[in-house]
Parts: sequence; structure tokens; C-alpha cells
Amino acid sequence: MQGKLTVDPTNQISKIDDRVFSALIEHLGRGVYDGLYNPGNPLSDDNGFRQDVVKAVKDLNIDLIRYPGGNFVSGYNWEDGIGPKDQRPTRLDLAWRSIETNQFGLHEFMKWTKQTGTRPDMAVNLGSRGIDAARNLVEYCNYPGGTYWSDLRKQNGAAEPFNIKTWCLGNEMDGDWQIGHKDAEEYGKLAHETAKVMRLVDPDLDLVVSGSSTREMATFGSWEETVLDHTYDDVQYLSLHRYYDNEENDLHNFLAKSVDFDEFISGIVAVCDAVKARKHSDKTLNLALDEWNVWYHSHKQDDETAPWQNAPHLLEDHYNFEDALMVGTMLITLLKHADRVKIACLAQLVNVIAPIMTDDTGIWLQSIFFPFMQVSKYGRGIALAPKQTADTYNSKDFTDVPYLDSLAVYNPEHHEVVVFAENKGEDAMDFSTELREFTAQSVIEATQFAGYDIKQTNEDQTMAIKSNDHVTLTDNTLQTTLQPLSWNMFRIQ
Ligand code: AHR
Repeated sequence: MQGKLTVDPTNQISKIDDRVFSALIEHLGRGVYDGLYNPGNPLSDDNGFRQDVVKAVKDLNIDLIRYPGGNFVSGYNWEDGIGPKDQRPTRLDLAWRSIETNQFGLHEFMKWTKQTGTRPDMAVNLGSRGIDAARNLVEYCNYPGGTYWSDLRKQNGAAEPFNIKTWCLGNEMDGDWQIGHKDAEEYGKLAHETAKVMRLVDPDLDLVVSGSSTREMATFGSWEETVLDHTYDDVQYLSLHRYYDNEENDLHNFLAKSVDFDEFISGIVAVCDAVKARKHSDKTLNLALDEWNVWYHSHKQDDETAPWQNAPHLLEDHYNFEDALMVGTMLITLLKHADRVKIACLAQLVNVIAPIMTDDTGIWLQSIFFPFMQVSKYGRGIALAPKQTADTYNSKDFTDVPYLDSLAVYNPEHHEVVVFAENKGEDAMDFSTELREFTAQSVIEATQFAGYDIKQTNEDQTMAIKSNDHVTLTDNTLQTTLQPLSWNMFRIQ
């Protein structure tokens, strides 16, 4: 098999926004409790924050943390999570049929973001609540002082405002599973009014309006059009969510779903631009892909989990090697849309469909941790338009799918081109990257993530990225062999 990528640092898609390396943390299962927050555990500090989790989050170079949900936010009273912990109410979390103790709330979250070097991306409840709760929350977080809510924040220990910049106007409001689900007209009007009022409190907010929960929604497309009719001028981003599965146990069809992902993103861009044209607007709307991942392994177990537990084991997918390849190809796909996708949150971060898993004695890193970590660390800079040739295959739902998925990022600061390449085939691939308008001196790092059974998971922590010692660089062309079913990275200076 053959695959070739030609790149030219002058042929650019866009600068990659740091916020595409973001993640969701929801009050769900063991994401917060028993996950990042575990008071009394010897691995936790005085705040109850697991230090092994903090280190792993830092290793992933996460930027924004979308919080507190997810579906959870649509039934959440943010006021329950502030003030003395012994006075906080225990409530039913109706989204996940669990018990919410509210021992972790806004102040704990903000402290945790400081420790992890991340930034908040706060969602407001537009399901069971609305404008009033949202404006009070903005006042509590961002107003300096001298008013009821800002002084309450001070009284609760935060003298300085949190100055939260990015806010999501609800979550998946198109889904009938959502608490307070609305049709597009109702949601669009509410989102518009909420945005208006939040901005009266703080004019500098960046706002994300909820798009479709999946591409399969009957309202996909028309939802975006109607919602944007009401909110185009109010918001900076439209959200989209995408999860993939391999329920049918068809590896090649699974990995080909990156084609669907690509079309999904392009489709939403087209809808945004159609609204822009119709409104004669000068403004181009960008996308917040604020939930994406593989999710399906835990469905059956979750159906059998008894309701109304504290921190139940929910959505605890154990990811295998093929899932890591899927996450790799999704990462490449979203970087191909770096001109419009400005925020992307891996959903989620700890224990719940997550790269990082905890137990009482430590953490373990899932297979999907590795490609995410590499792209988040080295995929900083400018995404280059990929000119690729490769052998192709047909799968159940897709035709002419390239076995190769590849993209290069140019980092002008380090004068470095970083190539990410995935071989989706079961045969080795002769792979080359030709660099144009760039004088390549050497390959400073070449790695591969390969050689595992596609169903292997990583509880025993044996998976690792290894070096690829069979790379040559001649006349600006890198040449190597990509192992069957492999994720690869090459750093060229
Ligand atoms: O991430 C898990 C759930 O998936 C979120 O709560 C919801 O927004 C989505 O359906």
C-alpha cells in the first residue's frame, strides 16, 4: 500500500485555536466525585483534588473545561454548589438518575482549573431555568463587587471576580431527553434573550448557542437555521456534538466514519454561511464542537445500573486500540476544519467516556489518551492544507475511503512541521511526505502507536507510543513505513 502527503507551509488552512484541545467535565457518574474530587484519598490535596489526575490533565495540555454539563446542566441550580459545604443541599440529579451532593461546585471548579492550568467554559441551564438564573450566575462570577451576587461570591471566599469569558447557552436543547427540551423557535428566542441579558451584565462574553446533538436528529439543519435566525448576531459559536461507535464490530466501517465527521462539520459550516448570506451579515460564525469522542462500550452496563446512587459507575467505556485510531482520525479531521472549528471538547475527561480513569490507588490511562496527548502537544501552529494520495477502500457505508489519513501542522515559532498520519489498513504502507517551500534539515522525532490487537484495552498500562527508527529524509522528502493499523507522528525541522 502507498500513501503520500505533500505539504507546503504557505498553503495554510488556518491557525489552530488552542481551544480545540479542550474537554468536558460533567457532574455525571464518577467524573467529578471519585474522579477529580476525592477528599480523604491519600492522593488528594487539602482541597480534595486528586493530584495524579491533575498531573494527567496537565500532560494532555487541556485548554477550556466545559462545565458542569452536558445533560446535567439542564436541571442544575448553580446556587446549590456555593457556600459552606455542610449547608449545601443534596438533590436528585434527574439527568443521570443519581444523587448530587453538591460538595463540588463553582468555587471548587474554579480552584481546580487554576491547579490544572485550564480555563472555564461555563454552561447555563436553559432547560429547567432561564434568563434569571443565567444573569445571576454571570453577576456572581464576573461582576467585581458591591451587588448582591458579587458580594456573595466575596463572602464565599473569592474576592476577585472569576472573569469567565466563554459561556454555553444550554445543552442539546434539540433532544427530547433533555430536561426542558424546546423546539427550535422556542429555544432560539430564549437563547437570544438570555444572551442579551447576560451581556448586559458583562458585555465581553463569548457565547455558544446549542446546535444539533447529532447529525441523525430529524431537525438537523433546520434546527440550526431557526436558532441562528434568532441568535446569529448574539453569539460567536454554534455548537455541534458527535460520538461514534462500533456496535456492528466492523473495523473498516468504524474508521471510515471520519468521512461522516468531515461531512457533518462541512454541513454545519454551510448552514451557518447560508444564514450569514440571508442576513447580509459581515460576521462569520465559528463552531464549537463541544462534545466529541467514541462512546458505546458502557451502554448495556449503564442500562442495568441502579438509580439514585452517589457517583455511580456510568459511561465508563474501556477504550481499545481501534478506538484510539478512531480518536486519531477524528483529531485529524477536526484540524482540517481549523478555519471554522475554534473550540472542541473531548467528552469527557475523567472516568466518564474518558482518557483518564481513577481507582482508589491511582489512575490509568486509556488508549485514546495517547493520540490526543500527541496532537494536543505538537498540533499547535498552523494547519496546512493536505494534498494526499493513497489507496482507498469501500466499507459498508462509505466508498473510496483513503487508507491514509494525514495532516501537517506548521509551527513557525520552532520552524517545525509536524505530520500526523494514520494507516487504517491491515497492511503496512509505504509513506512519504514531500515538503515544499520548507528546507528540512532533520526529523527530530518519529513515533508510532501500533502493534496492538484492535480490541486490546489498557488497564494494565502496557500501551505506549514508541519511536520509529526507520525514517529517512532526502531532498525534503520523508520516507518510512507505516505499520498496519497505526497512529504516527513525525517532527521535522
Ligand atoms: O457526554 C455525555 C452526554 O452526551 C452529555 O451529557 C450530553 O450532552 C450528550 O448527549
